[in-house]
Amino acid sequence: MPTPGVIMAATDEGKGLPLVFVHGFPLSRGAWRRQVEGFSATHRVIAPDLRGFGDTPPVPGTSTMDRFAGDLHDLIQQRGTGPIVLAGHSMGGYIVLAFARHYPELLRGLVLVGTKAGPDTPEGAAGRRATAEKVQAEGTAPVIEAMAPKMIGRPATEAGLGAEVRGFMASASPQGVVGALLGMAERADATAGLAGIGVPTLVVTGDEDVLIPPAESEKLAKAIPGAVLRIIPGAGHLVAHEKPREFNLALKEWLLTVR
Ligand code: MLT
Repeated sequence: MPTPGVIMAATDEGKGLPLVFVHGFPLSRGAWRRQVEGFSATHRVIAPDLRGFGDTPPVPGTSTMDRFAGDLHDLIQQRGTGPIVLAGHSMGGYIVLAFARHYPELLRGLVLVGTKAGPDTPEGAAGRRATAEKVQAEGTAPVIEAMAPKMIGRPATEAGLGAEVRGFMASASPQGVVGALLGMAERADATAGLAGIGVPTLVVTGDEDVLIPPAESEKLAKAIPGAVLRIIPGAGHLVAHEKPREFNLALKEWLLTVR
């Protein structure tokens, strides 16, 4: 799959079974900070910034899920990880499913967090294209203001995590946001591929996720052979950051099943 290359900025800490964490939209690798802290004593933990987000430069054009997956493929080849456990949150999950389709031999396990397999509705895709035009005219502020409050559950908002979440979004470039919006709008339905996933899979969601309802995670877990579903109470969309103790425990237990 030819992809215009990009050098991804990435956190890469620890030794052992490689865990690669892919952030959602319009976030950056900071959203996985609690997992870097929680697993780098026992695993090699890699958390990249996707093209156009965090410290990774944007690339002109549409960032399809396949292109993002190609960037991840290049990253793990450059870093010589061998087969990985690949975790993706939300848009990161769309990318992880594209990666599983193209590079199944590079996977030891999959972790799908607050995500889904289905494509955008026609109305949803049209909304993304309209938002992309707005970002071109006005910058990323309208997207950040719309998305940030929906990322976490209500009690977490009260605890002041909101500013931290905005911080994860602050470095997104307008070109990166536009590319990802257009890429998500045109992404394919990944449902048909789920039955063919042949590695251990963990599906995690927060029961207060308002962006991608927990029912989507239930569907994923039913369709992927042997998948384990964990629903974390009192957590919203950004469950891994909002409830790190519960999330990391679920991941740690499940990792015992990965060979
Ligand atoms: C995300 O968190 O990555 C987004 O909510 C995904 C989406 O907009 O579909």
